[in-house]
Amino acid sequence: MKATAKAHTNIALIKYWGKRDESIILPTNSSLSLTLDGFYTTTTVDFQEELSKDIFTLNDEPVTGTAFNRVSAFLDLIRRSAGKDKLFANVQSINEVPTAAGFASSASGFAALAAAGAKAIGLELSDQELSRLTRQGSGSACRSIYGGFAEWEMGEKPDGSDSYAVPIAPADHWDVRVAAVILNATMKKVSSREGMKRTVDTSAFYSGWLDSIPQDLQQIKEGISGCDFEKVGQIAEANCLRMHATTLGAYPPFTYWLDTTMTVMQAVQAMRAEGIPAYFTIDAGPNVKVLYLPENEKTVEKTLRNIPGVTDVRLSKSGQGVTYL
Ligand code: PMV
Repeated sequence: MKATAKAHTNIALIKYWGKRDESIILPTNSSLSLTLDGFYTTTTVDFQEELSKDIFTLNDEPVTGTAFNRVSAFLDLIRRSAGKDKLFANVQSINEVPTAAGFASSASGFAALAAAGAKAIGLELSDQELSRLTRQGSGSACRSIYGGFAEWEMGEKPDGSDSYAVPIAPADHWDVRVAAVILNATMKKVSSREGMKRTVDTSAFYSGWLDSIPQDLQQIKEGISGCDFEKVGQIAEANCLRMHATTLGAYPPFTYWLDTTMTVMQAVQAMRAEGIPAYFTIDAGPNVKVLYLPENEKTVEKTLRNIPGVTDVRLSKSGQGVTYL
């Protein structure tokens, strides 16, 4: 009753920003992402009759508290589906996502946990069923089941049965790259969970955000299918700015940006003015991700590394979906 799975993180080009149901994680809007090969989690789940509770180690360190409880609560879903409520697991994860990189490390983490856990306990799940299960651990993780571009369809039903990710284009469809620009290693002040909630509950701009999603999604999918980098980049950058605008319209207002965040954004726009197509996107933290094409890799990396306040730049290609080891 043991299985190992590897899952990559993903970067949202159309952001998931807001929940309509917090307990089973149902979003207020559909979202779309690119899975990245550079950042991943490998997790082994070993269900053992003799255990009386779960054990979780991350990078060889035992985990307790909130992080442990989240993993254990997620294993409860797997146990319940398999009709084995009293079967506990030893979970070992190795995270190749630098925590300071501002990626939702929970995306690769929960995708790998769901895949390994389901397989270990003997559930035979389709990708769609696995994505739906993964969503209940961390929303953005449901997109990491697939390689390349994936869309999380928000669904309509209150039970979440129609809320899961679907593949849009595999990793080998188009060689688009992402530079993760790392600014500082401090923990973010407002978690994505809290940030979303405050925005949904109070932001004067939230309805405008929701209204803009269907058109963004339709156009970015056209751009992806035609490998139109300018179109995809422009929509992703505008969508990111609109998401971050909702935080300024919340009460109390907040922003994830630092001064260096803006410096990087401006450097990306300056590259464009000089004829290098590059576009930025930012998640619920200060770090910036830059989309670029392979032929511009050297220039983009050099420009980003030269920005004062940038501590590291990590380059990534499009990555594969969940695999079993
Ligand atoms: O799934 P969470 O709670 O890590 O939320 C992710 C939210 C964003 O990263 C800001 C956007 C997204 O779609 O990944």
